[in-house]
Amino acid sequence: MTAATATSIVFEPARRVRAIGVSEILRITDHANALKRAGRPVIVLGAGEPDFDTPQNVRDAAVQAIGRGDTRYTVLDGSPAMKAAVQLKFRRDNALDFALDEISVSAGAKQVIFNALMASLDPGDEVILPAPYWTSYADIVQICGGVPVPVAGTEANGFRLDAAQLEAAITPRTRWLFLNSPSNPSGAAYSADQLKPLCEVLLRHPQVWVLADDIYEHILYDGLAFATPAAAEPRLRERTLTVNGVSKAYAMTGWRVGYGAGPRALIAAMAVVQSQTTSCPSSVSQAAAIEALTGPQDIVAERCADFQARRDFVVAALNRAPGLRCRVPEGAFYTFASCAGVLGRHTRGGMLLRSDSDFCRYLLQDFEVAVVPGSVFGLAPYFRISYATSMAQLREACERIQAACEALE
Ligand SMILES: Cc1ncc(COP(=O)(O)O)c(C=O)c1O
Repeated sequence: MTAATATSIVFEPARRVRAIGVSEILRITDHANALKRAGRPVIVLGAGEPDFDTPQNVRDAAVQAIGRGDTRYTVLDGSPAMKAAVQLKFRRDNALDFALDEISVSAGAKQVIFNALMASLDPGDEVILPAPYWTSYADIVQICGGVPVPVAGTEANGFRLDAAQLEAAITPRTRWLFLNSPSNPSGAAYSADQLKPLCEVLLRHPQVWVLADDIYEHILYDGLAFATPAAAEPRLRERTLTVNGVSKAYAMTGWRVGYGAGPRALIAAMAVVQSQTTSCPSSVSQAAAIEALTGPQDIVAERCADFQARRDFVVAALNRAPGLRCRVPEGAFYTFASCAGVLGRHTRGGMLLRSDSDFCRYLLQDFEVAVVPGSVFGLAPYFRISYATSMAQLREACERIQAACEALE
């Protein structure tokens, strides 16, 4: 043994990272994939990405960009052509008008959110997160020195935040309210009328900014009209960052393009953050995203119809399983079902189910279906299914979940 290997040097992560665990979703998915590699027929319903391919016209646009030599750094927070495509999208879909310097383009909506919080949070600033919420929100808030303030939604209220809850959660330290509609993980969406009472509260608290995460905008069912705060209440526009991206609507998760639009001063501060991290989003991916946003849009509605058929199937199947209860989500590609009715019961192997995590562990170990416990998203006892997978897989998975519930003693 050499001197170098004899000394044990322990790496100590920085305090800002220590507070954050490895994503529970990744941990469950890794475990499920390890079981699969060991030959077990596990069905993984954890993925947060469409199972469709990126549309052909979008892929062609990327190939053409490479051929043209669009292979250099672009303007740091998005090429002028990309920003123009985003501008067009906001006018066409949301009746929102933004100048090009009110638009920021990043490597995914996640980076837009990260830039916004890095650019705006001082230590101890609070961010209100209606629960259940996308896990990354809480982690990003903490990395940026802020304090996540979860506010639990109820099934009775469709997992939507209500005005009284919002009023009670606001303090002088509140910097942001996050609104994600349709939501990951609950699928809940706000209509313009449902946003109004929240906007009324916000108008009384000018220190609170709004981050509207609209990434699932185009996966909205039953003909519901999409609503976003900056359009529903124009007086909030001067303190709203509207975030969106191409990952979900155009099945482009791997291309890493997201964008945000909001007040010029915020956008400029976000550009400072981006200038010292990724410099700019990929030039080729921007060319693809321009085609996605400005090219034919029919495929978006077609895929949404496919997702709706899967939603209907999964919700009906879950509601047939003893002990489970699932409300009908308005959008996104997730169900968020209650498993309260199976807690306190025993598996045939003698395990007592005490929590949603126990139930999910049981589903994976004994029935080979991987789903994510609600506690990961700040609300228990629930579990999330991503139905962005084939009907054949969903049918098999739902049969196994039903059998798992029937097997409880
Ligand atoms: C609610 C929500 N916002 C943002 C994102 C990030 O999307 P992107 O791929 O654009 O970074 C996700 C991805 O899962 C999400 O679920």
